[in-house]
Amino acid sequence: MTTRVVIRQAVGEDAEAVTAVRRAVFSYKAMSVAATRHAITVARPEERFLPLIAEVDGQVVAWGAAGLTVWTSQPGQSYLTIFVHPDHRKQGIGSQLAERLHQHLTEVGAIRVRTFVHPDGLEFARNLGYDGTRQMHYAGVELKSLPEQPETPEGIELVSFDEVDPQAAYTADTIAALDEPSDSPMDSMEYDRWLDEIWNAPSMDRSLSVAAMAGDEMAAFTIVETDGDRMWSGMTGTIPAYRGRGLAKLVKSVALRRAAAAGITSAYTSNDDENGPMLAINNWLGYHRVQTELALLRTLDN
Ligand SMILES: CC(C)(COP(=O)(O)OP(=O)(O)OC[C@H]1O[C@@H](n2cnc3c(N)ncnc32)[C@H](O)[C@@H]1OP(=O)(O)O)[C@@H](O)C(=O)NCCC(=O)NCCS
Repeated sequence: MTTRVVIRQAVGEDAEAVTAVRRAVFSYKAMSVAATRHAITVARPEERFLPLIAEVDGQVVAWGAAGLTVWTSQPGQSYLTIFVHPDHRKQGIGSQLAERLHQHLTEVGAIRVRTFVHPDGLEFARNLGYDGTRQMHYAGVELKSLPEQPETPEGIELVSFDEVDPQAAYTADTIAALDEPSDSPMDSMEYDRWLDEIWNAPSMDRSLSVAAMAGDEMAAFTIVETDGDRMWSGMTGTIPAYRGRGLAKLVKSVALRRAAAAGITSAYTSNDDENGPMLAINNWLGYHRVQTELALLRTLDN
């Protein structure tokens, strides 16, 4: 019997099924159904976001998505994500999704595509013309035993994101993001889009996200996203003038403690291999590596 694969555009109602496939593939990521629905529906027209799903006998077995990377000033940058449920691999589903998505990216003027793969997806990606650039380490920690909380330096006040002006959080996030290791500079995030994609995302838990304020200025922050009893660190950042004073360690220490008190049992995060300070902080907090993904790039022939 041959299986019938149907590929179609994903809609918000597919979020639950897509999340289930995602969980089967990435046990070390935390993303709720609401966050998946948000990811499917939040993109603006200029992002040219195309979310696809593959169904076998009416059941969602794979996800593929691509769009233009709008948070960088570099022209023509784009991204592509594909994952196929482990029970449905080696049947050409990933290749069909890749073909549709590369065609789309070419049509919307993308020049370079970035994707992340598991080590076991490397051959698939290389066959599609992708080549290695960076490594992204995923790590997790159980929140039962955390190191002692560092002292709060004088002049710094710790507050939750419930108590901060979103504009202050936007400023700190966009300044810190300029120094996060990446293939393209993160230098083009407008406030309205940041509000839609980050501040108002359903996974953002403002009561657990923590800021270190120096007067009205946000010196450091850590964003907590939740998925049931698991949390994901959306971003931790310290603005340059306040780096090297233990503030990132402090805000993340406090956030993990507050999360544990709120019933969260495990925390996950990802860091670029070149992010020495953040890897040092997470090692100190007790995170252990659970997976390394490869960040790959290919160019498109236009
Ligand atoms: C990563 C970042 C948040 C660190 O902020 P910070 O407030 O300076 O961090 P802290 O002072 O709390 O701690 C830094 C730790 O890294 C260590 N460190 C600094 N540079 C390092 C390097 N190149 N390699 C290894 N460790 C390093 C420090 O020694 C310190 O550890 P210690 O207290 O055990 O000595 C900040 O550099 C930043 O905003 N970077 C850009 C955004 C980013 O990459 N965020 C993380 C995304 S995953």
